[in-house]
Amino acid sequence: MRDLNEHTLTDEVIARFKNCDNPRTLQISEALVRHLHAFVREIEPTQEEWEAAIDFLTRTGHMCDDKRQEFILLSDALGVSMLVDAINHRAPEGITESTVFGPFYVDGATLYENGSDITEGTPGMPMYISGSVNDDSGEPLANALVNIWQSDTEGYYDVQHMDTLALRGRLRTDENGRFSCWTVRPSAYPIPDDGPVGEMLAAQGRHPWRPAHVHFMIEAPGFRKLVTHVFAEGDQYLDSDVVFGVKNSLIREFKEHPAGTAPDGRQVDQPYSTLHYDFKLKAVAGASLEEAASQSDDRT
Ligand code: BEZ
Ligand code: FE
Repeated sequence: MRDLNEHTLTDEVIARFKNCDNPRTLQISEALVRHLHAFVREIEPTQEEWEAAIDFLTRTGHMCDDKRQEFILLSDALGVSMLVDAINHRAPEGITESTVFGPFYVDGATLYENGSDITEGTPGMPMYISGSVNDDSGEPLANALVNIWQSDTEGYYDVQHMDTLALRGRLRTDENGRFSCWTVRPSAYPIPDDGPVGEMLAAQGRHPWRPAHVHFMIEAPGFRKLVTHVFAEGDQYLDSDVVFGVKNSLIREFKEHPAGTAPDGRQVDQPYSTLHYDFKLKAVAGASLEEAASQSDDRT
């Protein structure tokens, strides 16, 4: 086929996929070309705009390494990560909702005893996190693995500015499905905005902020892995989270208390906060431990 023009090009590109023997690859390739060509037809980019787009994507790629994933940030800031999450985690009423995974999870964080201090000396207002892990009918799940990670009071994650890990850890639920730890109250923070994604946000007239939150990833045999956050009630960014991750069901009061006796009996000599959340996991019918983990093993 020769002499292709703006009216015949799309069909010819799709026709070249005729020997593709993987139906999913074919479906994705066709949809990619249809939508990409429709986008180009709609915006009619100038040659300079096309070059700027290539430059933007090239710089985004150059900004990716084992510490910084600018492409995931791009997906997050364009709402794509939350769309993928929504499609893959359609949960019945009553199951704890999921939200974006984010780039700051670290595999194999310290396994702490319940009630431990996970700050590793990080300063800030002490915060007692407690909660429970349950099935959809509210039956407690013992020995579930609860992964927690969060920013400090300045809005930084350990991996952004330290060589050691802090404000993250793993806990096992007790026989009543309960877990707890001491941390510091996290603050709202901007996503890394010193790269192409930051430029994009500025160009779109958007701020880079996320409301204060604590990340949770919870796993229990026979249940779908839950990746979520709990957000601070009243935070000024709840309605404009840069990555569109806030859900009403995930908002709780990070309740402030004067110095005194904390819920676990600890004497705290300064004002402190408490956060409590009862999680409900979705059963994966007939799944073994490994199947349940792999069926839900996506990073969004
Ligand atoms: C986070 O909550 O850690 C996060 C999520 C998306 C982009 C950047 C950070
Ligand atoms: Fe976060």
